[in-house]
Amino acid sequence: MSRRPVVAGNFKMNLLAEEARALASSLRAALVAEPASCDVVLAPVYTSLHAVREALEGSSIALAAQDVHFEDGGAFTGAVGAPFLVDAGCTYVIVGHSERRQLFGERDADVQKKAQAAQRGGLVPIVCVGETLEEREAGRAEEVVLSQVKAGLEGLDLDRVLVAYEPVWAIGTGRTASPDDAQAMHAAIRGSLSAAFRDKVRILYGGSVKADNAAALLGRPDVDGALVGGASLKTESFLPIIRAAKH
Ligand code: 13P
Repeated sequence: MSRRPVVAGNFKMNLLAEEARALASSLRAALVAEPASCDVVLAPVYTSLHAVREALEGSSIALAAQDVHFEDGGAFTGAVGAPFLVDAGCTYVIVGHSERRQLFGERDADVQKKAQAAQRGGLVPIVCVGETLEEREAGRAEEVVLSQVKAGLEGLDLDRVLVAYEPVWAIGTGRTASPDDAQAMHAAIRGSLSAAFRDKVRILYGGSVKADNAAALLGRPDVDGALVGGASLKTESFLPIIRAAKH
């Protein structure tokens, strides 16, 4: 198997442009001194993309946006389509994050259109899926996640997509899925993919990933990386997670 791990930092609505630039520069310097064994991706707020792009110029760290509109352009006030993200230097974009689903009412159909728009524009979508606590307690976690995966990946080229499993109850709560629970869901997601891509698609885990649990999570066979929120906001908390991701 040749799935190189990916560690992505989702800054969410944090870090002003100069703060994001400083973090990117500091991570860059650390990874020049000791190269990462994984792909590293940073997803700042839209308004910080330019600053982070400048800080990363010529480095192997990739730039991502946190959302994309499903139309490429036109009369969509406040929206940002894939061509604009490419223009801003992005190569990845997060779609269907649970905060978008829960706080902004995104449904599977929206996530599907966004992921397709991302690929159409040449971006790699990071398609997020995950069950709520209520769904897990009702024994419906796998059913919910697999139906989100099916909808989110519909019509995509599976050579150019990442999946992120982020149980909603583990996001920002300090409560992480156990490595066994994460592995079980990752294996279920992988098993649902078409045979040709099953061993190729990289599936990241997200939800309270920290320096002290990263190695155990990333050590599981179907966990190909991490999508990190809070711990990605400082070099000293993010770098150890990057270091924990070994090919
Ligand atoms: P936390 O790492 O802060 O729990 O956030 C996870 C997440 O939502 C990443 O997209």
